[in-house]
Amino acid sequence: MDDLKGRVAVITGGASGMGLAFAHRFATAGMKVVLGDIEVPALDAAVEGLRSDHVEVLGVRCDVSDAASVHDLAVAAIESFGAAHVVCLNAGVATSGPLHEQTLSDWQWILGVNLMGIVHGVDAFLPGLVAQDEGHVVITASVAGLTAYPNLGPYSASKHAAVAIAETLHNELSTSGSKVGTTALCPGFVATGIFESERNRPEYLTDALAEPESDEDRDRRIAFLEMIASEARKPDEVADLVHDAILNRTFWVFTDDQHVPNITNRHAEITQRQNPSEGQPIIEDIFG
Ligand SMILES: NC(=O)c1ccc[n+]([C@@H]2O[C@H](COP(=O)([O-])OP(=O)(O)OC[C@H]3O[C@@H](n4cnc5c(N)ncnc54)[C@H](O)[C@@H]3O)[C@@H](O)[C@H]2O)c1
Repeated sequence: MDDLKGRVAVITGGASGMGLAFAHRFATAGMKVVLGDIEVPALDAAVEGLRSDHVEVLGVRCDVSDAASVHDLAVAAIESFGAAHVVCLNAGVATSGPLHEQTLSDWQWILGVNLMGIVHGVDAFLPGLVAQDEGHVVITASVAGLTAYPNLGPYSASKHAAVAIAETLHNELSTSGSKVGTTALCPGFVATGIFESERNRPEYLTDALAEPESDEDRDRRIAFLEMIASEARKPDEVADLVHDAILNRTFWVFTDDQHVPNITNRHAEITQRQNPSEGQPIIEDIFG
């Protein structure tokens, strides 16, 4: 897109973290914004914050794992602002731990939000974008979508799928000569609420037999959160990268180079038919 002024951005997971930072960055560029999120108090606060900055904003309670809910988000955007131009499929959640400890509820929750959330977004918004031949889809994947670090099995699987959907979309749109652009956002560590994803896990996907967090695990989790708060990229910085990627039609967006050697090594191992080298965990079992 050449100009964002007066256009409409829809952001799933827009109530906090990177999604909220996108909203503020897009608003600064003169866009109207629609936030879809499952966490209503955070959503209300996000809308109020934007309104107090005189932004034209709509907040919609939306569960991206539910196709009808994402469809309703699209309808609300069109009814309120007439169109959707930039669509950020960004809502996400995470668990951690070795695969033998991840439950089917963990898998269902992660794939429901991180993968089916994107599928539902593509289903609800892509036909309109293609028909108007103007717009941009931003899919928030992760460096976990290009690697296979221990302890991130379901999350990594969902993010590999996110990358594959984004790349396919880019290839299809560019081959057809469409003016709709695509960005695959692959963040490393960013200081957001993702490490407290459990706050949004639905009751029916909570394993009733799950053991309560031990003191040791709690201390490890807090130490990790402190490290993230001090060393990770800030959401505002990522929002600047995404804003520029939309204007420049940049597909790959990384937030740092920390994981590039591992991505390069993985690709070399694949083409040389070498067994994967032992990956060091970047995350211990800290999500609970
Ligand atoms: N923070 C990181 O280090 C990091 C790294 C790589 C990728 N990501 C990805 O970035 C994206 C944004 O996450 P974030 O880091 O800003 O975390 P965040 O927790 O601050 O934001 C995620 C948002 O998604 C919302 N959400 C959760 N479940 C939902 C559902 N079912 N329907 C609708 N909304 C839902 C949450 O309420 C929250 O507002 C996610 O896809 C995440 O996987 C984050």
